[in-house]
Amino acid sequence: MELRFFPINVFRETPKVIFFDAGIDTSNGSDVVIHSGEAISPPDDLEDEQYYVHYHQTDYNLVITGERKFVLINPLWDEPHHVIYLNRSMGALEIPIGTYHRSISGKEGSIVLNQPKRDKFFNPSKEFIPQKLDKINLIKARNSPPVYWIYENNKLIRVNFNPLERKIKTLV
Ligand SMILES: [Fe+2]
Repeated sequence: MELRFFPINVFRETPKVIFFDAGIDTSNGSDVVIHSGEAISPPDDLEDEQYYVHYHQTDYNLVITGERKFVLINPLWDEPHHVIYLNRSMGALEIPIGTYHRSISGKEGSIVLNQPKRDKFFNPSKEFIPQKLDKINLIKARNSPPVYWIYENNKLIRVNFNPLERKIKTLV
């Protein structure tokens, strides 16, 4: 399963200033998710991890500041479990309809701009209800070895082992 990332278009960058176009052509929404410190969206329910899953919205998540770890679970994919250490340089991560997802910030927090594509059946009271992984195919997908996506040497790479062992300890 190849995930899709939509890069930003940097117009100008100087040591303390960056100015870029973050537009997603097909988007009809503009949502900001701020983690002002260590945080998880959606938060755990006691011991249980919770996830969002959309039926009428495709997400395009771009990190504006900081770094955010995304976990994607989709039992329909040949590789059903992905862990993405997302930063701005990687561009906006597409999260297809029906994909369970959650995101986690470290102590520094992070700001994400999501520019979703919503269809006419989109209803905010139904799209943002945290879900537990309570079906066997979801639990199997969660327990399968993840594909990791990281940014290294100015390149987005995917690996089947975790090269950020030290970093994971600070993020989780
Ligand atoms: Fe979402």
